[in-house]
Amino acid sequence: MKTHELKPHVLELACPPLPVVRIGLIGVGQRGLKALRRYADIDGTEIRVVADLDAERLAEANRQLQASGRPVADVEVGEQAWQSVCRRDDVDLVYICTEWDSHAAMAVAALGAGKHVAVEVPAAISVSECWQLVDAAESARRHCFMLENCCYDFFALHTLALARQGQLGRITHCEGAYIHNLRDTFGLSGRPTDTLRTWMERRCALHGGNPYPTHGMGPVAQLLGLHRGDRLDYLVSMTTQADGADGILGKVNTTLLRTVGGAGIVLQLDLTTPRPYSRLQTVCGTGGYCQKYPLPTVQLVDMPEALTGDDALHFLAPYTLPAVEPFAEEGRRKGVDNVMNYTMDARLIYCLRHGLPLDIDVYDAAEWSCIAELSEQSAREGSRPVAVPDFTRGRWRELDGHRFHVVGD
Ligand SMILES: NC(=O)c1ccc[n+]([C@@H]2O[C@H](COP(=O)([O-])OP(=O)(O)OC[C@H]3O[C@@H](n4cnc5c(N)ncnc54)[C@H](O)[C@@H]3O)[C@@H](O)[C@H]2O)c1
Repeated sequence: MKTHELKPHVLELACPPLPVVRIGLIGVGQRGLKALRRYADIDGTEIRVVADLDAERLAEANRQLQASGRPVADVEVGEQAWQSVCRRDDVDLVYICTEWDSHAAMAVAALGAGKHVAVEVPAAISVSECWQLVDAAESARRHCFMLENCCYDFFALHTLALARQGQLGRITHCEGAYIHNLRDTFGLSGRPTDTLRTWMERRCALHGGNPYPTHGMGPVAQLLGLHRGDRLDYLVSMTTQADGADGILGKVNTTLLRTVGGAGIVLQLDLTTPRPYSRLQTVCGTGGYCQKYPLPTVQLVDMPEALTGDDALHFLAPYTLPAVEPFAEEGRRKGVDNVMNYTMDARLIYCLRHGLPLDIDVYDAAEWSCIAELSEQSAREGSRPVAVPDFTRGRWRELDGHRFHVVGD
């Protein structure tokens, strides 16, 4: 097995401030076009170039830029077009919204060319790709931010604030998930079972574990301070047998993870049963309990009974993170479509413009994404325990919990 050379780490990496963040966007499918629209609301950014395989999507991207009063971007079309984006001198941030299996190669090339990277979830599909991201970010001393928007969800942020004020005591167990009935998106209803239509459906059908772990893991990792005082130790995983030949209907993965510090995590992926949407977002501590789904609930030890629904949300509302809340508030004031996504983008750009460490670093991207391969390994081998690599190479003890940075702190 390859040993990974000990280079200076990029924990809490601070880079020179960028007055304007010049963006090269790779992949303008449904998520990329949404990102493009979102950036109309973010000051201090310019979309310099867009790349895709499909010329019509690029034309649509420029129509959207014009419609929002922004200059059109240069376009790069074709399989290798993304490489030109990475090489450009007028790009600071390469923003990757393509399919999963291209993320790591694009991010590594962009980091190698001295760019910062923002990459959609998951950042990588294998442990080896995760190491490549870490190595590239450490060598280049550039940011590799994974666009895990669920870390900026109202309930996640307010639960984190509650935990940081000590109200949940010692957190010993968390649950996260991506439970989203995509049968219609996948076209599963009433079609022959041997035709898989989308790249995501094909990848999920072939995967034996949890190929999409980061929506569930992100908020949990921040609550537990992963690689900032604790870290993932090992996991065990189980995947149900799908019903039918296409290998996806009814397939559910459940992964259990344990941290070195002794906390337990349940992580689930279910894309094809009729179960209502949920990311679970459950936190159990010695002082209290919060869950977002199916009904927001808060129970602290000294409450006579649990608060549920709006009562739980009203209780949580005053527990805010001072470094993040102004961005969420700004999103609400601007009336943006999705405050969670706005908060993520606005925090990313604010940190880049002020030379601050980012909220999500390359070790997060690696730790959360590597669960894809490791859960598959465990599930295929009778749920055997599989160790999770320490992507910090021993430096995870150097920090004391996760932080959102602001100017002057
Ligand atoms: N965070 C979230 O909530 C969220 C939601 C949806 C999708 N996503 C992520 O966004 C990413 C994209 O998903 P999507 O639904 O937009 O997929 P999509 O298929 O709609 O779009 C992908 C785009 O990438 C382009 N592309 C593929 N290979 C390319 C290459 N080599 N060079 C340039 N362009 C290339 C395709 O032509 C397409 O336009 C995925 O990683 C997905 O997981 C995240």
